Amino acid sequence: MSLGTETRSPWVRLSRRRDRAGEYGVSTMQTRSINLRVDELLARMTLEEKVGQMTQVGVLQDEHVEMVRSGAIGSSIVASSAWAGHEDQPDVVVDRLNEWQRLAVQESRLGIPLLMARDVIHGFRTIFPIPLGQAATWSPELVERGAAVAAREAAGVGIHWTFAPMVDIARDPRWGRIAEGYGEDPVLASAMAAAAVRGFQGDDPAAPDRLMACAKHFAAYGASEGGRDYDTVDVSERTLRDVHLPSFRAAVRAGVGTLMSAFHEIGGVPVTANSHLLTGILRREWGFDGLVISDWNAVAELIDHGVARDRRDAARLAVLAGVDVDMCSGCYRDHLAELVRSNDVPAATVDDSVRRILRTKFRLGLFEQPFTDNHRSRTILHCAEHVAAARETAAAGIVLLRNEGGLLPLGKRCSRLVIAGPLAQARRELFGTWTLNGVESDVAAIADCVRQTAPRGMTVTAVGGLVDEICSAARKSDMVVLVVGEHPNRSGEAHSVDQLGLPPGQGELVRTLAALCKPLILVVVSGRPLALTWEAEHVPAILWTFHPGGEGGPAVADALFGRINPSGRLPVTMPRSVGQIPLYYSRKNTGRPPATCRFRSHYIEGSYRPLFPFGFGLSYTRFEYSDLELSAATMSADGQVCVAARVTNVGDRSGDEVVQLYVRDLVGSVTRPVAELKSFRRIRLEPGEGRRVEFVLRPEHLAFWRLDGTWGAEAGEFTVRIGPNAVEGLEGRFTLDNAVAQAE
Ligand code: GLC
Repeated sequence: MSLGTETRSPWVRLSRRRDRAGEYGVSTMQTRSINLRVDELLARMTLEEKVGQMTQVGVLQDEHVEMVRSGAIGSSIVASSAWAGHEDQPDVVVDRLNEWQRLAVQESRLGIPLLMARDVIHGFRTIFPIPLGQAATWSPELVERGAAVAAREAAGVGIHWTFAPMVDIARDPRWGRIAEGYGEDPVLASAMAAAAVRGFQGDDPAAPDRLMACAKHFAAYGASEGGRDYDTVDVSERTLRDVHLPSFRAAVRAGVGTLMSAFHEIGGVPVTANSHLLTGILRREWGFDGLVISDWNAVAELIDHGVARDRRDAARLAVLAGVDVDMCSGCYRDHLAELVRSNDVPAATVDDSVRRILRTKFRLGLFEQPFTDNHRSRTILHCAEHVAAARETAAAGIVLLRNEGGLLPLGKRCSRLVIAGPLAQARRELFGTWTLNGVESDVAAIADCVRQTAPRGMTVTAVGGLVDEICSAARKSDMVVLVVGEHPNRSGEAHSVDQLGLPPGQGELVRTLAALCKPLILVVVSGRPLALTWEAEHVPAILWTFHPGGEGGPAVADALFGRINPSGRLPVTMPRSVGQIPLYYSRKNTGRPPATCRFRSHYIEGSYRPLFPFGFGLSYTRFEYSDLELSAATMSADGQVCVAARVTNVGDRSGDEVVQLYVRDLVGSVTRPVAELKSFRRIRLEPGEGRRVEFVLRPEHLAFWRLDGTWGAEAGEFTVRIGPNAVEGLEGRFTLDNAVAQAE
């Protein structure tokens, strides 16, 4: 790509002074209000240049040189194809991105910088657990730190904008993208969404180690029929507001700079053409002033949805609904200018979109600093600090589901250990889905970590895939660790499944080994909940890790040997069978609540209960709850009720407990869930240590989408429960004495 002669952009005066960008010096403009600068720039733009800002293309190629020079491209997604994160993508080359930036800034008429975007979902080069695994930590602090590490690494190579966090609520494990979000609950997902936004953006997304975040996929993408990706969603306005919008609302409140509209329809209206959602709720009700980008090619897919006659119609519907940037469909590029000239799209609509895009670029400081220092990245990618953070997060997300007879942690009772199974030697697979820049050589397999860190006196034999080999080795051992689960290609986008058992052949392997009557420990590595009912009844110890990232090997080994005490808690309900789906803890009571008797909600042949409930997780120690206290029996409209309980570590080793607070609204203007998580706290307790844990409940915590279509709390009786998961704990009651309208 030849850059040609240098021309001056009117927006930055180039000087050769070295500054934090290193070799590209730009002097900094007088600081003026961003809106003033946006309006001044907008006034100078042609209609074609405005449409250019609304156009995003894939990885920039030579064919794009003239488009960049003419201002026909506003941003690039630095990704080689629409494989949705299931393939190695060419690495990001900072010098290359700087070259494209220089072309835009120095050779286009107005010198508007390009936005460089990428899916940095759960790490860039240092890969953290998949977001579902991060949610299993119930630690917003760890999620925030993970996003900050990802931002530091990606910004260091010239990325400005990540298409994360994915904050869709998922209650159907058949859906492959349950891996990418924070689980089934709005409160847990909201806490993680806000934490991720803080981590990616920091206080100033223009900082050289921060990214502009993008909450996606707005909204209710996880409610697709049959768990089939991209399929029809038909939720009520109430379910939309109560379940699927809160995590996006939390991201917006946390200052997220952008949102991504989703592929699917809601009740007949595709999201990408849904002005009720993209403008009515997002902008008018919530006051969101950032930009909305479509998902990949989603504008053109309005034709497939059957609401657009052609690409021109698709462009019209999307821009009128509130989609500012067209990701890679080309519909805006090809038709938007003509739509404006023919008055099918008001010029003001395009101006509003361009303002939001330019504001984003100003907020990112791109006009002052369009280039990236290409020296910094080499020192921070996969540095020791980042690796340690990934390992701590991986460890904190490991969930101990069973430990009959205290088989774990492995110790003196085991001097000959066999470790085997289809994921025992896995390395890249531990990354999980959406890990474009992960490097397999960074990863140590679980089997290797177990073998290398076993306590003195224990011999560890790692056995390959043949069942006979495994059984033969197992017969000569004291205990067997079997590592099973999912390859990332069963997980993530376009990877929904219609069965929830272990992948083919693995269930038989488990049964074969269980029949040897050797103490068997199952380590499950997955991108979703699985219905391991037989295993849960016949395997005495089960450790679960949702694709733990690059440090999963050491983390699992540390958990097996007790160097860490498992403290993960389920962010999703574990079903007994695929036939139970959808299955989630905050269900409605119905007129015939579930019970194993006729004329009640139940299955003839199976249980209606989950295999393991939301929020569940064991520890190598034990925690007891006592002394529930409520500060008052009545909450006034402007008041609060403090709810506290004592949590005591009655075991012989320290451990983290996730104390959870659930509420039930006993009578409402509409039916209300049998339980709703309202708050949680992760605490560390030493052996014998007890601590009083207090939560403050206010009317805003009791708000929901009421019968009259307003958001608020209603007077009446509530039960409140403090406990270790969605179905256990100490319960009390209080009354809210007046209805309280709230801002949503
Ligand atoms: C994909 C995904 C979205 C991603 C985008 C860019 O199809 O739906 O999550 O950010 O395209 O890769």
